[in-house]
Amino acid sequence: MVQVTLFLLVLSLALGAHSLSPRRCKLTGNWVNDLGSNMKIFAVDGEGGFSGSYLTAVTASGNEIKESPLQGSLQRKNQKGQPTFGFTVNWTFSDSITVFTGQCFVDKEGKEVLKTMWLLRSSVDDIENDWKATRVGINIFTRVQSQ
Ligand code: BTN
Repeated sequence: MVQVTLFLLVLSLALGAHSLSPRRCKLTGNWVNDLGSNMKIFAVDGEGGFSGSYLTAVTASGNEIKESPLQGSLQRKNQKGQPTFGFTVNWTFSDSITVFTGQCFVDKEGKEVLKTMWLLRSSVDDIENDWKATRVGINIFTRVQSQ
């Protein structure tokens, strides 16, 4: 009887401690950003590598938007469940490329959010135009809730 009580006590303490600890932020899944762009991140491999697809809501190219592949890397050193990462989107419908870097956070409401910065490199015909070929910005992604 004493053993059962002890076991139940330890179990409830363990469960209580678990629910108190902040959630971990996971990169895999479907995300939407503040521009309305959609991103899917597939499984992260043992070395932190991942792939996915990106459907941008906007373009600087004037071309018809198409879903494009992304390749990324997750930093796996202990960052208290809020890891940093980077990824590249190789646009299939323009001759540009975008690199994103950011961190996967759990906010005060317990919701996952990706805070990112990006560089969009466009192709220019002349080296004289290099100065205007790179745009910079931020995007905030939230998880698309599966229904
Ligand atoms: C292009 O216009 O050549 C390719 C599409 C670029 C879309 C950019 S990448 C940064 C920003 N965040 C988005 O979700 N879309 C734009």
